[in-house]
Amino acid sequence: MPGPSTVLVTGAAGFIGSHTCVELLEHGHEVVLVDNYSNSSPEAVERIAKVAGRPPAAVYEADLLDRRALGEVFEGHSFDAVIHFAAKKAVGESVALPVEYYDTNVGGTTALLRAMRDHGVHRLVFSSSCSIYGDATKVPLTESDPARPTNPYATTKWLCEQVLHDVCRRLPEFSVLALRYFNPVGAHSSGLLGEVPRGVPDNVLPYIAQVAAGRLDRLRIFGDDYPTPDGTGVRDYIHVMDVAQGHRVALDHLDDERGMRVLNLGTGRGTSVRQLVTAFSDTCGTPIPFEIVARRPGDVAELVADPTAVAQAWGWTAERELTSMVDDAWRFQLLNPSGYAN
Ligand code: UFG
Repeated sequence: MPGPSTVLVTGAAGFIGSHTCVELLEHGHEVVLVDNYSNSSPEAVERIAKVAGRPPAAVYEADLLDRRALGEVFEGHSFDAVIHFAAKKAVGESVALPVEYYDTNVGGTTALLRAMRDHGVHRLVFSSSCSIYGDATKVPLTESDPARPTNPYATTKWLCEQVLHDVCRRLPEFSVLALRYFNPVGAHSSGLLGEVPRGVPDNVLPYIAQVAAGRLDRLRIFGDDYPTPDGTGVRDYIHVMDVAQGHRVALDHLDDERGMRVLNLGTGRGTSVRQLVTAFSDTCGTPIPFEIVARRPGDVAELVADPTAVAQAWGWTAERELTSMVDDAWRFQLLNPSGYAN
């Protein structure tokens, strides 16, 4: 089993990045954080150190598209691996701002690859997404199912995967794991780290949490006429600490195979929006008001992972249940009613 290493984490102050940093620090890795705080806050970095009980090796406020700043990060350390989260991730926003999405997500990835190549760092875990599968004709989804992105956000993730495939094909010293995660939700069980959306949340679980807390009046369920058991959208929600653990385990498997490998990170269990509302109501002890409204453009009926490939490759599965996702999200909401601002 490979030992502790020095890991660069981009987008480290974000939702998945911050939880992954805690997981890495708790397992003895040296972690260097980079974030431009465009959709996160330096307070997340304080919380990472507090939860992990020790600080990261270094923290940089830098944009990956700032070539000089990124060069300084690489010149200051000797990295064994990079975990690349930094990206824009709101589906609706990506439809309105496609250029910004391609620039940040694809341009940020190629800028990072350039810096890695120039500094002799060749091991990368890339944050990909189940949204690549788009309007799936069947579930559960395996990694070999076709990509059918339905919005610019999903297309940027798919394009990044193509870039990474190509880089690995031409530069055999590179080894890359692209993790397609399904819907990461929940929070750290300490209640200190969680998801802190700017403004009104786009994603369903933070939205429900704010309804439960009385900050929003009701959930709008986007359609109940999908071909699913109760008509509402079905997703494979995965606890953010399972996603974080998946990244930590991925570091140990980067050298299993040469080149590029794509793996799903999901539970294999689908939950409808109505089921999620019921689970949250049970946890917070009060009904969540909701109304059914029209479908959201770009949404799909059902996305559920087949998690067999990662289980076979690493002997690892996401274990946390929906109840712990909901409990942890609610605890974080209660302890941090205004996000990291308080
Ligand atoms: N939904 C509602 N009301 C809302 C928000 C969402 O009914 O206010 C429904 C959606 O229609 C969907 C389900 O809840 O059926 C989940 O929607 P999310 O917006 O939470 O997540 P998506 O499935 O759209 O996935 C997107 C990205 C993923 C990313 C995920 C979490 O496509 O890559 O958000 O960030 F992982």
